[in-house]
Amino acid sequence: MAESLGISSLCHRHRTPQAPHMIKGWRGSTLTLKTVSAKAAQSRILATALALLALCLACGALHAQKGTWMGAAWYPEQWPESRWDADLQRMEEAHLNVVRVGEFAWSRMEPAEGRYDLDWLERAVRLAEKHHIAAVLGTPTDAPPAWLTAAHPETLRVDAAGHLAEHGQRRQFNYANPLYRVYCAKIAEQLARRFGHDPNVIGWQIGNEYTDESFDAETRRRFQDWIKAKFRTLDALNSAWTTAYWSQTYDRWDEIPLPSAGGNPGLLLEHRHFVSDTWRDFQHVQVEAIRKFAQKRQFITTNIGGLGWSDNFDHYEINNELDLASWDDYVGQGHLNAARNGAMHDFVRGWKRADFWVMETQPGTVNWAPVNNALDRGETRAMAWQAIGHGADAVLYWQWRSALNGQEQYHGALVGPDGEPLPIYAEIAATGGEFERAARSLEGTAPVAQVALLHSYDSRWAIDFQPHSRNYDQLEVLLGYYAPLRDERLTVDIVSAGAPIDGYKLVLAPSLNVISADLAARLMAYVQQGGHLVLGPRSGMKDEHDALNVQRQPGPLVSALGGRVEQFYALEAPVPVSGAAGAGSALVWAEQLSARDDAEQILLRYGKANGWLDGQAAMISRVVGKGRITYLGAVLDPAAMRSTVAWMIRDANVEQEFAPLPPDVEVCRRVGQNRTIYVLLNHGAANADLALPHPMRNVLAAGGTATAITLEPQGVAVLEDSPH
Ligand code: GAL
Repeated sequence: MAESLGISSLCHRHRTPQAPHMIKGWRGSTLTLKTVSAKAAQSRILATALALLALCLACGALHAQKGTWMGAAWYPEQWPESRWDADLQRMEEAHLNVVRVGEFAWSRMEPAEGRYDLDWLERAVRLAEKHHIAAVLGTPTDAPPAWLTAAHPETLRVDAAGHLAEHGQRRQFNYANPLYRVYCAKIAEQLARRFGHDPNVIGWQIGNEYTDESFDAETRRRFQDWIKAKFRTLDALNSAWTTAYWSQTYDRWDEIPLPSAGGNPGLLLEHRHFVSDTWRDFQHVQVEAIRKFAQKRQFITTNIGGLGWSDNFDHYEINNELDLASWDDYVGQGHLNAARNGAMHDFVRGWKRADFWVMETQPGTVNWAPVNNALDRGETRAMAWQAIGHGADAVLYWQWRSALNGQEQYHGALVGPDGEPLPIYAEIAATGGEFERAARSLEGTAPVAQVALLHSYDSRWAIDFQPHSRNYDQLEVLLGYYAPLRDERLTVDIVSAGAPIDGYKLVLAPSLNVISADLAARLMAYVQQGGHLVLGPRSGMKDEHDALNVQRQPGPLVSALGGRVEQFYALEAPVPVSGAAGAGSALVWAEQLSARDDAEQILLRYGKANGWLDGQAAMISRVVGKGRITYLGAVLDPAAMRSTVAWMIRDANVEQEFAPLPPDVEVCRRVGQNRTIYVLLNHGAANADLALPHPMRNVLAAGGTATAITLEPQGVAVLEDSPH
């Protein structure tokens, strides 16, 4: 009963992260429920699940996505229909259970204005069904047909240099153009009318990887209107942007430029907000058209590109009205960087604070990197399992088979131009079989974290506009915190700075450059109630208009911290640091901190440096209310970061989640109501032997329980731990 009410049985709208009482701690060899007795926890979970299920039933939105999905992007429009059955047969043999179709097929769906032809797509969906393969339908709005842009050139995009895009590529449309949206809504509506009740269609993808903005005169006017609606008066705008600087003062709204490169930081920040809103509205017309005709069991998502980390728009904003977050996970050149890729999964999970899909990933190779090397044998499988370990419910390969012509002939695929399996097919088929075997164990489980990293697009943009050191890489700074937490075998959530954080024991904000008064108040409430907040370098320098806070860093949190940043320095060479939190070097960035309060603990100090930093505080911490606030003003080398993070974990009483592991072995934990799943991955080059503290079910192996396992390089084990 409890199992059938697992979180994944609920529709996406009613799915919530598990409550803190479901967090399990690893104490030696015993798994114990942390805050309440197991019985009380179970009955509470059951009651909550029943209530949520009732809600789901009420909205008619019982899950259609239950399970673990493996699939591919399939383009039936590129192939003779006589070929489809053979392709789907091969997919079924590889345990693929989902295809994404349609996202570039506009000219086939609507060959001339208003003449819709969806019969072929319906036949493709039916044939897929015959092979037990569900479909996610993509709206084709990333690739407008020639008749549309030829008749309405104003729907074409103008790039930052003023060039009008042309047919023959994709993404040539103008995301802000209202007429283009009318056409998008019409085709989305036609698709939804036809497939909104189709039993084999489980979800929708809007467009494909929103990327390019437009810099045409009309979009500039829209930007000016948008700014006017936000600031209302030119006085307010001139004050927020300090336009007295360089005579930037605006007398009329139509003087405001649409920035394509540099500019006033306030203007640049608002442009990013405008871009986010414009993509959101672009998406909204299609979401609306689909929701009108589609059953609620069908999810709506969009596949975010840019390797997850792209920041041309605010991903939280885009995901707000979607049911499911999904992203396209590519390695490109080189090999899987486990920490980076794991962090991106956790980041994507944070967009909706729920499980997610990997809508595209590479079957071995891509075609767009400087060197398109193949992943090693076994690496594609490890990558798929890493996604599942971090909370994905689906992994789809791009693509099933390369089109005979078109720009991506060299890209990896599962079958060759002859339709016969390529070498990678067997590895993907084996992984598909494993997904099938593990699906029941994974059902209703999700990562549950005690630690969160805060992320904010405003902060990222603000730093990117003025990095001050070309070596200050915000992803690297974030990974500096993330990697040691993962090495300590902890699950990490990466969430928006605006997300609820009460449930976490430790919250780390690596580069929270923009801290408004509101955000400061929420962070302080967390600390007062017993949380440990760690602010990293560059925190609290700016307000919500990207203007300097009049207080030194961390701005509105100075008085709580009882200290502040006296001066920041971009470093040319490493500077030694040492203290109670560890020892090592500051790299790239160092802030001279001062403690203005006796209650302040100085945990790290700089050694001999540029004279200014010598002997000064690099990390300070203070107890506030029931919690603690810490400021770490330097980017530290990995070893120093490891000891510093270890101090944070100890101080915040974060519990271990798994026994110590050999180096290069990653553990991912998914917690369910009556079981915990561990996905173990060996990213190293040597065999790794591990002894388990008590027997667990070895899900992928034939032989039942295991007490010890050996993982070969790229090896994967999935363990199911149930209360005994
Ligand atoms: C993605 C895109 C796909 C395909 C793929 C190739 O960014 O969404 O359509 O082009 O790259 O790696």
